Amino acid sequence: MNKGFYLSLLLLIGFACKDSRESSELRTPESGLITEKAMVVSARIEASQIGSDILKMGGNAFDAMIGTELALAVAYPFAGNLGGGGFMVYRTNDGAIGAIDYREKAPLAATKDMFLDSIGKVIPNKSIIGAMAVGIPGTVAGVFAVHEKFGTIPMDSILKPVIALARRGVVVTQKQEKRIQKYQPLFPKANKDSIPFDRHWKENDTIKYPALAKTLEHIALHGKAGFYKGRTAKILVDFIQDNGGIMTLEDLEKYEAKWRTPVVFTYDDLRIISMSPPASGGVCLAQIMKMIEPFDLHAYGHNTLKTIQVLTEAERRAYADRSFYLGDPDFVDIPLDTLLDVRYLNHRMQNFSFERATKSSDISHGNIALFESNETTHYSIVDQFGNAISATTTLNGAYGSKLYCSELGFFLNNEMDDFSSKPGAPNMFGLIGAEANSIAPEKRMLSSMTPTIVEKNGELYMSVGTPGGSTIITSVLQTILNVHEFHMTMQDAVNAPRFHHQWLPDEIRMEPHSFDTTLINSLENLGYTINLEDSPVIGKVDGILVLKDKKLEGGADRRGDDTAVGF
Ligand code: GLY
Repeated sequence: MNKGFYLSLLLLIGFACKDSRESSELRTPESGLITEKAMVVSARIEASQIGSDILKMGGNAFDAMIGTELALAVAYPFAGNLGGGGFMVYRTNDGAIGAIDYREKAPLAATKDMFLDSIGKVIPNKSIIGAMAVGIPGTVAGVFAVHEKFGTIPMDSILKPVIALARRGVVVTQKQEKRIQKYQPLFPKANKDSIPFDRHWKENDTIKYPALAKTLEHIALHGKAGFYKGRTAKILVDFIQDNGGIMTLEDLEKYEAKWRTPVVFTYDDLRIISMSPPASGGVCLAQIMKMIEPFDLHAYGHNTLKTIQVLTEAERRAYADRSFYLGDPDFVDIPLDTLLDVRYLNHRMQNFSFERATKSSDISHGNIALFESNETTHYSIVDQFGNAISATTTLNGAYGSKLYCSELGFFLNNEMDDFSSKPGAPNMFGLIGAEANSIAPEKRMLSSMTPTIVEKNGELYMSVGTPGGSTIITSVLQTILNVHEFHMTMQDAVNAPRFHHQWLPDEIRMEPHSFDTTLINSLENLGYTINLEDSPVIGKVDGILVLKDKKLEGGADRRGDDTAVGF
């Protein structure tokens, strides 16, 4: 154990003061679950278990992805979904990589100013609560596309344990009890009738999902069409329209998931494969990591003043570019080559100084002409054959639009809020958007999701991702750096305190009670605004690390009920 390693241990537990430094040096690293062959890490043990059981049956990571994704719709209705969408990045055991986009789309009847009033002001909550907030769901199309390309066991065998779980029910955890209570006041704002989540569920109660089981049975019988056509589609469209929404049968029928080329870049000896637009995750992560690569973070130490400054300033610049340039690549030309060009990124960092904070008001998106170049959920899977997937899926806000279709048994997303309702107006994550992310029929809204796979020396090294809206990208960043720069275990890398900057608002959000007051004062003296109030938790990272002996270590975030299961 070298000095740098001790330093990372000390900062890992979040106390930079001298007293705690001495005691933390005695602390041994915390390891997550270690398995020999295969692992699933997700937000709920039930979903990880179903994924792992599918692998044990001989299924591959893609079969397990389908089971885990759909089991999360049952066990984790906060973000797991049939009524939402997501992204998955994969790496097969022969090194082939790719990605699928099952992001929601704007309905055909959507218009650019659908969330503005007659004088052009954003109508509060219209893109957040209720039927107008709902984008065309992509999850079911996504899992069927994955099955068609990579599946090895029949879809009904994959769905069987998921349907059984929905019928058997899911035990409420303490964290889930709190989540339901927190959002309960909003459910009547979106729903005309009461919904099952209006009840006062307590820890250890069991919530059964018979309507969802029936919907899943219908899908098992009729395939993708069992969701996008026929009975389910009709019930869904009638329900949405009855609640004032604009989704049509044609919208559902036209929905297709899309295979995308991931964003690939290097950082030291790592090769990082992450999600491409319409997710901003891969581009932003690449921009930040290339901007910070010239700095010796390892020497600065984990969560020290200098490390926080370098990361913050790179994040500030990358998020400024995000807000201007990124959107659905099927609708806008994104200057990817320039945005990822090292000369361009070095230029972006040219005005950074350790002496003082840059002001976000002094930063805009880069001028590329000069250069030419909390509520989502993530799961990671590595199978016994060496295939890996990294998938992030969401309803957007907690329980999405809060609109719950009782007949079908699931919540609908509020993903329309991820569009820029009006250039310059912040969305629910405070993210500012521009024309590139304006609303248009059938367009996909920009996402921060960052499902990521990392290779080292040409071999699989890590699968990682997280929920957290705009904080997704910076949480994935810090987790990779914690392992690579600060030599943490996967579990410690996930546990470590996190911070976040997104250009606007111009502040560093930090997890409270995790950073030393001296450090915070030093940052403030340099001109940084620190926000310790608004983010009790930043991200809920789940990841899998391939260890030197080829065993797998799971990092399941203690901030949630996340659990690793494997063999
Ligand atoms: N809905 C959160 C995201 O896609 O970034």
